[in-house]
Amino acid sequence: MCGIIGYVGKKAASPVLLEGLRRLEYRGYDSSGVAVLGNSTVEVRKKKGKIDEGLAHEIQSRPVNGDVGIGHTRWATHGPPCDENSHPHLDQSEKIAVVHNGVIENFDVLKQRLLKAGHQFHSTTDTEVLAHLIGEHYAKRRSGKSESNTLTLAVCDALREVIGTYGLAVICTEQPDVIVGARRGSPLIIGIGDGENFLASDANAIVAHTQRVVYLNDYDVATVTRARFDVMNLGTDTAKVQISQLEFQAEDSQRGDFEHFMLKEIFEQPRTVENALRGRVDHEGATARFGGLNMSSAELRSIERIVIAASGTSWHAALVGEYLIEEFAHLPVEVEFAHEFCYRNAPLQRDTVLLVLSQSGETADTLAALREAKRRGHRALAIVNVVGSTIARESDGGIYMHAGPEIGVASTKAFVSTLTVLSLLAVHLGRMRMLSAGRAQEILKALEAAPKQIEALLKQNEEIKRIAVKYAQAEDFFFLSRGYNFPIALEGALKLKEISYIHAEGYSAAEMKHGPIALIDSKTPTVFLVPQDSMYDKTMANLAMIRARKGPIIAIATEGDEQIRKVAEDVIYLPKTIEPLNPILASVPLQLFAYHIATARGCDVDKPRNLAKSVTVE
Ligand code: F6R
Repeated sequence: MCGIIGYVGKKAASPVLLEGLRRLEYRGYDSSGVAVLGNSTVEVRKKKGKIDEGLAHEIQSRPVNGDVGIGHTRWATHGPPCDENSHPHLDQSEKIAVVHNGVIENFDVLKQRLLKAGHQFHSTTDTEVLAHLIGEHYAKRRSGKSESNTLTLAVCDALREVIGTYGLAVICTEQPDVIVGARRGSPLIIGIGDGENFLASDANAIVAHTQRVVYLNDYDVATVTRARFDVMNLGTDTAKVQISQLEFQAEDSQRGDFEHFMLKEIFEQPRTVENALRGRVDHEGATARFGGLNMSSAELRSIERIVIAASGTSWHAALVGEYLIEEFAHLPVEVEFAHEFCYRNAPLQRDTVLLVLSQSGETADTLAALREAKRRGHRALAIVNVVGSTIARESDGGIYMHAGPEIGVASTKAFVSTLTVLSLLAVHLGRMRMLSAGRAQEILKALEAAPKQIEALLKQNEEIKRIAVKYAQAEDFFFLSRGYNFPIALEGALKLKEISYIHAEGYSAAEMKHGPIALIDSKTPTVFLVPQDSMYDKTMANLAMIRARKGPIIAIATEGDEQIRKVAEDVIYLPKTIEPLNPILASVPLQLFAYHIATARGCDVDKPRNLAKSVTVE
């Protein structure tokens, strides 16, 4: 959600910024822009739309020269997407340029004050107000004794007046060797190079240049030059600075021969499931082991209840987690939308642990849930993909997915990795309670078989594409199932609607008869997840109700099930596994189904309209 990059070094800044922005574009693509320091001026280029449709042409026709600059790719919060609202924004003196990710909640009050003081604004954004505020403080500081850190101090002065969230980068013509960065609520990292340094919203933007990074904490303000960086903290006397090594290479976030990141990430799943399992299966103890939970066996045994909080696709994974943990460990689990958990004052008994799930580790709603649970004195664990992300750093303990960078805006491999990790966690908790060694071994073996089974499923890609194209013009879809696959029906519907813009509803197959069945007709296809599990007969009875209303049926069934062919128009077969692991396998054909429908309709699956990856505003 909005991507920021800053560069100070010896190279021409604009190609570095443009390349970094391309790698950040999944965070927002309403508009993009750069500001580069030239000879005592700041040159700004910005344009509505995706980088290659706007900004890249703009820079080509009007190049910008200089070796210090900042860039931004926008997901609109305040003000519609247009050239004027694109970042960077300048202050009143046009010496200072600012890029910003986040929301300045009191921008209107600040704007009124600045308007009275004679400031003129050219956009409707909160960021332009912030730029003017920094400019106002800079002018005040400069009229006193001008120091090399005047820009940093002016940024600090401005931020003390601000209510809201920010990850920002600031440059000024009068301090031509400096970029100032600051964060509260929106991620920002420093990339440490050789004779050059970077600021970025996430490591993807800079991994081609350096593997050494510093993750900034809330209220940190960083002053970055070619040779060094200094970090101070607005809240405490000293900032905690730790240099970390990135665990991935630039190639990991390349599309390779795949047409889209989403397809690449779907096809990576045999490997990402393996990575989620690696080193965690303990056959001898018939359990799973984790390095980072930071809880003793006694502490884990004393958990009375788990609340899982997450958003979007991760929330669907949480629903599967509820079934898994309750079945394997007999521990009561409650699943909450992260944003509801924070504000509804739900009672939390003693010995309740909060577990948050997040691919990005930056989702503002989920982070707020984690902080709320900690504030109330509860232990908060996290399952996260992005190493070093805010949720990973602020949780009391957790498990990494090790899925590698997920660039496609629609989450695929991270979802399946979350399911894999949740299955392991449920076994781990179960073995401390009532799960027998024999049953645990059966689950672990089935988990280890999953990568090969996903590979087999991926071989059906062409057949799934054929079925998808057949239904690509439908305007409404249902996704139905029961039991473990009910959350997968919800996820299948979300995947389809977010990348193809088709209206799709995920529903419990049993719940349909209580109302929504009224919507079924011959033009409304239903994707029915009906594996041969303990719910099979009941799900088949629900399927018959749809069939009786002439609704076309695409069944996701277990291989060898011939009966299903008699009642479904089309069938996609899943390899056999144990019931609790069906969701891991069933997710894959639904991802491919959504992908092929979206491409058949000419949609940009990696950059769906109105969306952005990593939603860092509440
Ligand atoms: C949908 C999707 C979103 C995210 C949600 C939470 O495909 O990707 O629904 O799942 O924004 O994101 P994370 O998991 O990063 O917290």
